[in-house]
Amino acid sequence: MALDQRPMKIGVLTSGGDAPGMNPCIRAVVRTGIARGARVIGINNGYEGLINGEFRELGARDVGGILVRGGTFLQTKRSMAFREPRGQREAIRKMNEVGMDGLVVIGGDGSLTGALALHRQGIKVVGVPGSIDNDIWGTNISIGVDTAMNTIMDAVDKLRDTASSHGRVFLVETMGRGSGYLAVMAGIVSGAEIVLIPETKVTLDEIARVVESAYLRGKTHAFIINAEGSGYKTNDLAQALEDMDVGYQTRVTILGHIQRGGSPTAYDRLLASRMGVKAVDALLSGISGVMTGLKGRGIDYIPLEEVIANKREVNMEYYEMVNLLAQ
Ligand code: F6P
Repeated sequence: MALDQRPMKIGVLTSGGDAPGMNPCIRAVVRTGIARGARVIGINNGYEGLINGEFRELGARDVGGILVRGGTFLQTKRSMAFREPRGQREAIRKMNEVGMDGLVVIGGDGSLTGALALHRQGIKVVGVPGSIDNDIWGTNISIGVDTAMNTIMDAVDKLRDTASSHGRVFLVETMGRGSGYLAVMAGIVSGAEIVLIPETKVTLDEIARVVESAYLRGKTHAFIINAEGSGYKTNDLAQALEDMDVGYQTRVTILGHIQRGGSPTAYDRLLASRMGVKAVDALLSGISGVMTGLKGRGIDYIPLEEVIANKREVNMEYYEMVNLLAQ
């Protein structure tokens, strides 16, 4: 570093819905930044905190112990104000006030859209995909997905014990907003009879037939995984199946925010750490307007323009696989 150069100041924030693995990513950003001679500023409460100047410098010890913790110790918000040009202008002003030279944004598609808006206004920014929904284009998988999937699998494994004992069909509702990814993959790893997702339409009669057929084939239990955006309200569907008499009694479990919590899995800690390092390296080498994405065995930089213009679709091959393996 030349004598007249001050260390680069990198901000880091988490935004939108939290995802297990955000903490290991923050830790990687802080420690990589410091190791490379930069200063790292933690921004509390996502973009809302950027607008309000909720900044604090983070040292290596400040992120001690967070590797194993779910959630985000920087806390997060869904900021309405930042969607408006006025909010973005205030945020840029606050960044300039403290001399912040670059920003790492960890979050889902809404957060990455915000990152692109900043990049377009000349701010150096790198996004990191953090969302349990796995709907972000440009990466094989986002931070938090693996932990959420394991949480769902663990829940269904437990439900299977009681479902078998009583001869019941369980309807399990998973998160995912407009994406059926979690439901489809959970269907495979949990051995569901059928998954209901926003991407396909299945009639009530078809669902009833699948469940009744499982009963006729002598299965002691059955599982329907219903993605929250499928169009079916889980409780209504359960009542409809009960009324139609499909062989089993019906019961409902809505997993809800359980899916967002918990200590990140080894896979998520690794992914988050790798992406955190790559995000800092991008900023330090002058790269901006990109997202870190897992491609093959490596972490690539994907233009945010491309990320935002596309949506990662569910692979329907895996949807078919649920039916195939339910025999
Ligand atoms: O994007 C993550 C997610 O958990 C979605 O799956 C879900 O639809 C939404 O966030 C729930 O949001 P909130 O935490 O605001 O209730």
